[in-house]
Amino acid sequence: MKIGIDKMAFATTDQYIDLRELATRRGVDPNKYTIGIGQDRQAVVPPTQDIVTLGATAAAKLLTPALAKRISTIMVATESGIDNSKASAIYVKHLLGLNDFVRTVELKEACYSGTAAIQFARGLVAFNPQETVLVIATDIARYGLNTPGEVTQGAGAVAMLISAHPHVLAIEPTTVAYSKDIMDFWRPLYATEAIVNGKYSTNVYIDFFLQAFTRYQQLTGQTLADFAGLVFHLPFTKMGKKALEGLLGDRTDAVAQRMRQQLHASQVYCRQVGNLYTGSLYLALMSLLQNGQVKAGDRLGLFSYGSGAEGEFYSGIVQEGFTTALNDIAADLKTRHQVSIDQYERFFNGRLGMKSADRQFDLSHDRRPFVLAGQQNHQRIYRRQK
Ligand code: CAA
Repeated sequence: MKIGIDKMAFATTDQYIDLRELATRRGVDPNKYTIGIGQDRQAVVPPTQDIVTLGATAAAKLLTPALAKRISTIMVATESGIDNSKASAIYVKHLLGLNDFVRTVELKEACYSGTAAIQFARGLVAFNPQETVLVIATDIARYGLNTPGEVTQGAGAVAMLISAHPHVLAIEPTTVAYSKDIMDFWRPLYATEAIVNGKYSTNVYIDFFLQAFTRYQQLTGQTLADFAGLVFHLPFTKMGKKALEGLLGDRTDAVAQRMRQQLHASQVYCRQVGNLYTGSLYLALMSLLQNGQVKAGDRLGLFSYGSGAEGEFYSGIVQEGFTTALNDIAADLKTRHQVSIDQYERFFNGRLGMKSADRQFDLSHDRRPFVLAGQQNHQRIYRRQK
């Protein structure tokens, strides 16, 4: 039985900043951001959007009434939790209007948990092939204004249906997970921004990729030549380049060239949006499928990385019909509008954060389908607008 990703949809906010403008404001050479880090634009998050509204927006793009009835479980993977107890999946389920006979849960392990959710969903579908599981990887990457990590912020959600009728990617049985207790990036309960040992985190990422990929090759007997492309978790596009070059070294043969071209195609959307944490690997997959040289039957390798740290390398076979099983991301990104650095900073400081006071947001500027209207009696108030 094939089990894998049947449909995928991506959603982000409708505002962005130009990173050349941010560089100028921060007194940095713009080439550092666009070439050194490899990012052009960054999603800006108004206080009326959060992981729930982004996740619901992504999921609404892929659900038809018939598909909605088939969902047995919703797993929300995030490291931007909005409650220490209640799962964001329950809010998402309510906003989507799904029936009450649905299991809802939230998963966490930094940027890795979207992959854990997919693997757990595979198990549920293997037990009962009639089930369809909705996995949503949704996050807001925040490091703080004027920090080295600021240029690698971003936001968005990728929603995926996992079923026994995959039209995007049939996941292969061998997967390699690799974990170690290290402090490269974390966010204590009292903090709204991550604490990060940035350069250490990039080195650990590369090491975990090489460990996992080497073991995968030992277990399967496959080599790089067996893959049409590799897809990486992309906290910023240069990170994928560093990992791939760590594997290729000075190779210039046809396989190495193919890997570099496919990496480039997988980076297109990350350059425009920034880091999605849990969703970044899956936005990179969508980017490769929409901008790369990929056809049904091709094998893709996926490397997932979450600080703390956990990595996983697994593979899948691209399925017939994948082009129509994804939303048109390029078209969606064209509808965004640019905001000034001042506006971005106001939004950055204006979110609910960890404050307990009642708030009511002005919704007149947010026409997204789902919004966070404010907070009352310590409860977040969400609205569906259309
Ligand atoms: N023109 C072109 N390139 C330039 C330049 C210029 N004028 N000035 C600098 N650069 C280049 C540098 O040479 C460097 O390139 P290499 O990495 O290839 O050597 C690059 O720009 C970055 O510059 P710095 O070395 O000065 O690095 P920095 O202090 O600005 O920090 C960072 C960069 C560590 C990525 C920082 O942005 C950060 O901490 N980001 C958050 C952490 C992160 O994303 N880690 C990734 C692995 S962890 C993970 O993947 C989980 C997750 O999602 C967080």
